[in-house]
Amino acid sequence: MVRDSLFTLSRRDLLKTGAASATLMSVPLAASAQDTATTPAPVMAEVSLEVNGKQQHLTLDTRTSLLDALREHLHLTGTKKGCDHGQCGACTILLDGRRINACLTLAVMHQGARITTIEGLGTPDKLHPMQAAFVKHDGYQCGYCTPGQICSAVAMLEEVKDGIPSLVSEDLQARPSLDNDEIRERMSGNICRCGAYSNIVDAITDVAGSRA
Ligand code: FES
Ligand code: FES
Repeated sequence: MVRDSLFTLSRRDLLKTGAASATLMSVPLAASAQDTATTPAPVMAEVSLEVNGKQQHLTLDTRTSLLDALREHLHLTGTKKGCDHGQCGACTILLDGRRINACLTLAVMHQGARITTIEGLGTPDKLHPMQAAFVKHDGYQCGYCTPGQICSAVAMLEEVKDGIPSLVSEDLQARPSLDNDEIRERMSGNICRCGAYSNIVDAITDVAGSRA
């Protein structure tokens, strides 16, 4: 009984001491954070973009990424934010015909650019051939990566058409042939957490084959 009481007291004291120490430590930290925190005033800029064939004029904080401009300001939420660090490809769009990670670039850097997002590739009644191929080959599960995969694949086929080699191209001078290795290498910037890769490759192969 005595031992229990001693133990209870001792533990209570310990908790009190710990709480007091934590409070003492957190006060100067919080105060110092408040003292040094300065919120820089936003610098606004006018930006004009052609998005999916439509002229858009925006007034944006210059720190706004192209991805946030599309999603938060133009409400084109088909383009997904996965990592926001250029590592997953979910935010892939076409910018002047080339694929780009929209999270890695500022909107103000693209004055007058021509942008195509997944919403501008096709319509529910008339899908882009790459969209139709993804449906046909079941190239998705949750679908989160799919807009980026499709935009990336569309641009990738243009890169192959232009003769741009990849890391696995054997002949840097010849037009690359789009085999399994080429597709996987060229699409390696687009991560699919559901692992729908083999069906994605089938979809791209289908479109590439019908083009040849
Ligand atoms: Fe842009 Fe992941 S959200 S690469
Ligand atoms: Fe789910 Fe690719 S389909 S992440």
